[in-house]
Amino acid sequence: MPKFYITTPIYYPSGNPHIGHCYTTVACDSIARYRRMQGYDVMFLTGTDEHGQKIEQKAAEAGVTPQQYVDGIVAIFKDLWKYMNISYDRYIRTTDDYHVKSVQGIFKALYDKGYIYKGEYTGKYCTPCESFWTQTQLDENGCCPECHREVKDAKEEAYFFKMSPFADRIEKLLTETDFLCPKTRATELVNNFIRPGLEDLCVSRTSFKWGIPVTFDPDHVVYVWVDALSNYITALGYGNDAYNDYDKFWPADVHMVAKDIMRFHAIIWPAILMALELPLPKHLAVHGWITFNGAKMSKSIGNVVDPKLLGERYGADAIRYHILREMALGADSDFSNEIMINRINTDLANSLGNLVSRTVAMADKYFGGTLPTDRQAEPIDEELISMAKALRDKVDARMDAVTLNLALIDIFDVISRANKYIDETQPWILGRDSANSARLASVLYDLLETIRITTTLLSPFMPTTMPKIWEQIGASADICTYEDAGRFGVLPADVTVHKGEIIFPRIDAEKEIDELNELIRASAPKTEPEIDLVPLSDLIGIEDFGKVDMRIAQIKECEKVKKSKKLLRLILNDGFGERQVVSGIAQWYSPEDLIGKKIILVANLKPAKLCGVESNGMIVAASVVRTTGSADTNNGTAAEEEVKVLFVDDSIPCGAKLS
Ligand code: MSP
Repeated sequence: MPKFYITTPIYYPSGNPHIGHCYTTVACDSIARYRRMQGYDVMFLTGTDEHGQKIEQKAAEAGVTPQQYVDGIVAIFKDLWKYMNISYDRYIRTTDDYHVKSVQGIFKALYDKGYIYKGEYTGKYCTPCESFWTQTQLDENGCCPECHREVKDAKEEAYFFKMSPFADRIEKLLTETDFLCPKTRATELVNNFIRPGLEDLCVSRTSFKWGIPVTFDPDHVVYVWVDALSNYITALGYGNDAYNDYDKFWPADVHMVAKDIMRFHAIIWPAILMALELPLPKHLAVHGWITFNGAKMSKSIGNVVDPKLLGERYGADAIRYHILREMALGADSDFSNEIMINRINTDLANSLGNLVSRTVAMADKYFGGTLPTDRQAEPIDEELISMAKALRDKVDARMDAVTLNLALIDIFDVISRANKYIDETQPWILGRDSANSARLASVLYDLLETIRITTTLLSPFMPTTMPKIWEQIGASADICTYEDAGRFGVLPADVTVHKGEIIFPRIDAEKEIDELNELIRASAPKTEPEIDLVPLSDLIGIEDFGKVDMRIAQIKECEKVKKSKKLLRLILNDGFGERQVVSGIAQWYSPEDLIGKKIILVANLKPAKLCGVESNGMIVAASVVRTTGSADTNNGTAAEEEVKVLFVDDSIPCGAKLS
């Protein structure tokens, strides 16, 4: 039996899961179910990444131990996965004893091979904040970006993992193989991280305790990525006796992650595996974020959407369908209640739901539920039949390429074709004259077969509702298989349908959107999200403010500045004409996020050259600094800056002056 191993990232249990976390898990679940249907022996792994300073701090705030803290949140994750029908085969917690033992072994093996060495983490230390900063993180005055006080040079003992020996092999992996999907992302990784020279990775810390102790130097705990990434092999039994699946399932077929942790999976994980002389995973599938009004959904911003709240209103399958259908591999997808309700109404209630209920109702009305066996085919049937027959191969190719939204589009193309076939063949007219009985039976049979095939292929995506449809069309589960999805004419000729409940009721959009917005408002944190406030500046007179000429402008073109990780070059329409501006926002925005957007431009700044490129003005943005337990590795601190461009209403004309 062929094997298939798929993984989600392991999630930080530092807050409740939201719909952003659901995406990867639901996507992996759908792939795992599809592979099982194809006959693969599947291992689907998910879990939680439970160590680190942030968890330690949160537990202390809550007055519980870190273990008690993570136990509580892991229970919420597991409950959500159950609710969303996630069919994982194994759930790893990085606090599990077997994982701890394996990670200690891996760390020691890397040390013994000479890839881990003890060094000094040097950085800028802010004593009041007890935080290490890198030079590039300091504010414009070279001070602490959090409290803006002076920092001093400081050193902390730490272990480092040598990255440079693996640079060439990793570059080849990214550029010459189909490891990375979509491959277009390889350039960004190579240019930003590999070509400038891979920095060694800080892999231990002494400033907090909630982590896996380094066996040969117990003041140190293993820091973040060696602990987290190893889960993909420790969960199979690598370096422990808890499981015996390593030889069977490694290397993984697919690791699926979102773009913010791509670098760790595309560079650091292959380097660790190379150092351990283990095979590399076959594919890394990278998707974008679910955003809410353009911003990444995250608890600290207070824009999280509770998947359970939505599932309770529309059903877990509808939510699964919506998030999978909206997200194109590699791009972000903006979540809104309006888009979700429209999607459910258009595709599930109208297209699929109507096809099923009309077909079953007609079989019931004209034949008392059981089709007669005489048939009369006509040439017009051919297009639908051949589309339905070809569908399985198309979906197979989409699943191989991990383009789940395209698989769904292909399936719904056939469903739409079936609805059109009803309009073309007009069964209600055929039903008026019993002389047309054989023709009418043919039409209804073709429709039932199309429903059987499409819903079989949809069942990995919507595992609870599709079997209900099979019941209505008189198809037992043993003919709703992968094998039979490739054949037309499998239902018995005298099939009996069973009228049943409406599977996807139409949603009253206006009423629901109001109610949902209210619910989301009510469940959002009452206070502003916590950020690290920069002290207010000295007072100025209105005449000083008047000197700054701020205008509305639209971004026409945008690209990364070569040789710079931070800069984007933008061409703006400022109402008077075009101008070029360079902005240090590449870390937070990619060109496609910006093109077409209207922004505020500081229009009368003297020209300046940044990385050799002339900039005529500045884009207004907010700098949001938060203390988090983020996954960033090389920094000796847990503070994160996010720069948020102020986008303005499209109706404000370019050139309008702010006053
Ligand atoms: N613990 C690390 C992963 C270690 S894997 C060896 C981590 N955890 S996380 O909980 O912060 O994020 C887990 C995954 O969820 C990441 O891929 C992250 O990008 C993804 N998402 C979190 N919010 C998301 C959205 N709003 N949209 C899509 N995915 C999002 O990183």
